Amino acid sequence: MPKGPRKVLGIIGDPVAHSLSPVMQNAALAHLRLPYIYVPFHLKTDQLKEFFRTLKSRRIAGLNVTIPHKQGVIPFLDSLSREAKMIGAVNTIILRNRKWIGHNTDGAGYVTSLKKEAGYSVRGKHVTLIGAGGAARAIAVALGMEEAREILILNRTAKKAFDLAHELNRKFAHTVYGASRLDKVEPYAWPATDLLINATSIGMKPADRLPVPLRKLKATALVSDIVYTPLDTPLLKEARRLKLKTHYGWGMLLYQGALAFRLWTGRNPPIEVMKKTLLDSLSR
Ligand code: ATR
Repeated sequence: MPKGPRKVLGIIGDPVAHSLSPVMQNAALAHLRLPYIYVPFHLKTDQLKEFFRTLKSRRIAGLNVTIPHKQGVIPFLDSLSREAKMIGAVNTIILRNRKWIGHNTDGAGYVTSLKKEAGYSVRGKHVTLIGAGGAARAIAVALGMEEAREILILNRTAKKAFDLAHELNRKFAHTVYGASRLDKVEPYAWPATDLLINATSIGMKPADRLPVPLRKLKATALVSDIVYTPLDTPLLKEARRLKLKTHYGWGMLLYQGALAFRLWTGRNPPIEVMKKTLLDSLSR
């Protein structure tokens, strides 16, 4: 253990007890013998203001933010990164020159996971993205930054998909965003898909089924799920049965944390240590 007083990193959320970030980040900090400790802070929305008022006196050096505070923390920060501004939400806060800066590593974490775990680059690809909530939004922005060619956003509530596509079409010149209601997708969309992403919570319950005809995807398509409990979701099982390539949900969790670790500490995150700790916890 490093000598001297330790700085505090942590995660704020409600609930937060289930979060795997403390075990993953503490394993990385201990591995590099860095003088930090990472703790969960269970905060209700009406406690945010007081928490941020006393942040500096608590020796806090950086934070993760999870549900439901990813947008609610923004008024308490001094500035936002380009990604956080575009996504409209913050999952990582860093202290620079006594200023609190909001970042969002969710989307970049997802894209990094695709690269590192599936060897996949989204540049020039046709993506079908299911969901239009917070997670889908972060991914849709990151895919635009990586210059995916076309992104079709599907959502149960069609208006949210159309609004998101409309907004992102104005922000990204190299990517065309389309939208559709999840159960009214034009049939030609499936064989045109290079990468299919589930960015909803569907799949967490065993009976959950996405209304997606995987058999209509081309043989080279990659099927990706952001759900990581269970590790092997019904969507991924079905994709494997059809001999399609798959990409697992834990990757986004791992790499959003790894990118946050680098922002706080300036050090290269020990990915293998973080990955092992995360997968051990998830398979318990
Ligand atoms: P997150 O921050 O995890 O993305 P969210 O912002 O609440 O959470 O978004 C949840 C997403 O999952 C939405 O796209 C939601 O669809 P709606 O916008 O129609 O609500 C989608 N979702 C959740 N449960 C669903 C279900 N049973 N069927 C279809 N879509 C579902």
